[in-house]
Amino acid sequence: MTDASVTVHTEAGIDRIEPELHGHFSEHLGRCIYDGIWHSQSADGDGFREDVMTLLSDLEMPVLRWPGGCFADDYHWEDGVGPREDRPRRRNLFWSQDRSEAPEEPNTFGTDEFLEFCERVGTQPYLATNVGSGDPQEAADWVEYACYDGDTELANRRRENGRDEPYEVPYWGIGNENWGCGGRMSPEQYAREYRRFATYVGSMDNLMVDDDLELIACGFKDHEWNHRFMEEVGQSSWGVEFPLDHLTLHHYYGRTMSVAEADENDYDQFLVEALEMEDHIERIAATIDAFATTRDIGVIIDEWGAWHTEAVAESGLEQPGTVVDALSAAAVLDVFNDHADVMTMSNIAQTVNVLQCLVETEGDEAWARPTYHVFDLYAPHKGNEAVQTSVEAPTRNVGDDELPLVGASASVSDDGETYVTVTNLDTRSTHTVEIGIGGDDVADVDAKVLFEDQEPDLVVDADNADEFTAADLDVSVEDGVLTTELEPSTVAGISIQ
Ligand code: AHR
Repeated sequence: MTDASVTVHTEAGIDRIEPELHGHFSEHLGRCIYDGIWHSQSADGDGFREDVMTLLSDLEMPVLRWPGGCFADDYHWEDGVGPREDRPRRRNLFWSQDRSEAPEEPNTFGTDEFLEFCERVGTQPYLATNVGSGDPQEAADWVEYACYDGDTELANRRRENGRDEPYEVPYWGIGNENWGCGGRMSPEQYAREYRRFATYVGSMDNLMVDDDLELIACGFKDHEWNHRFMEEVGQSSWGVEFPLDHLTLHHYYGRTMSVAEADENDYDQFLVEALEMEDHIERIAATIDAFATTRDIGVIIDEWGAWHTEAVAESGLEQPGTVVDALSAAAVLDVFNDHADVMTMSNIAQTVNVLQCLVETEGDEAWARPTYHVFDLYAPHKGNEAVQTSVEAPTRNVGDDELPLVGASASVSDDGETYVTVTNLDTRSTHTVEIGIGGDDVADVDAKVLFEDQEPDLVVDADNADEFTAADLDVSVEDGVLTTELEPSTVAGISIQ
């Protein structure tokens, strides 16, 4: 007997799902860069890990944010360019690198390495400038070094460092968490800094750089802070036309949950926290709407994901990769689809080895985590038109909240194919789900499922990594309605023609 239904309203379009909604984030933190992306011992000679690059290229990452995180506001990009043997070893105020306990940054991976990495894996770079301890000149110089094609000292320095053509860097972040590790600023103070930085970084595309540079301001989960920031940033001669293309916030969840000790009640609580994403998106979008009356400013969630008690500074923020974490990613990607009208990007934290990474490494081995397979399963949504869905499903009371036990989102491609993702967020029971797309002309259905027969706390490692790939899912079709059984904590991707 069915106990949940998903109705897809194929005519009720929300907006295009920008591919950037499936973006990523990498920081000089623990083993994300050193040992994760860049590892001189086991790499292809120039330092990049081939195995990691292959996994990430296959994923077709749309955008990658770098160099932080908190690290960004204590990073001076000139330390990381030029001959590697001449680059200074610096402090890393926030994180130790690799598995060493030393909070030190060797600077062997810098701007040219990062931008080359992006080109090799086929992704767009998003650079976060240093606002907390840097200045607008340093930020504008960074744009000039990376993107200017003319005859200045900085453009020529890039050429001397081996790169003739300017790089394409479309996204420029003005700081990171400037309410916190990026300078502990009040919203008004950050707004004033933002205006200074935006004047210099934002003017680079007037004459010097052919491509449009998109400027990204840091918001906060405290929505009053965002309100005050938007109010103050608009107080200038730019008026409402201030150069601001996107406003961000960060949402980590599961901070009190230990992967090793969690039970089903903890999973429910964890998933409720993940779904708080929806409220944050709607509230920050409402703030933007209240102020940006003549300009389209997108919402970016440029750090998000599971952060459990195992991920502490001493462990380089590493934590086991589980099925339930991957389930939360599916739930959040559904939320992003449903808010495609306001969202322009998201960046899960972090790409390799750190927090809810997609790829994990150990020595010479690299493998995909369950969350990687969720991104893969959701890939057909990228570039489609998101459409509305109505989900009727049982819920469970979790404290004062209610967890919907089935989640879904849907999109339609240019050639009329409907893609539906359905998640059984119940870690205890199977649910039988009916999916209707209106009308009875279903010609062809192709359905895949992740994590059947797997416990929510199953941890991925090098030996079992192959067991998390998608399997075929049985779907019956009658009078245009699809019916399928979803085992506990599973994620399905169904394409319907
Ligand atoms: O991703 C880890 C840290 O979390 C980042 O450095 C910071 O921006 C956030 O608080």
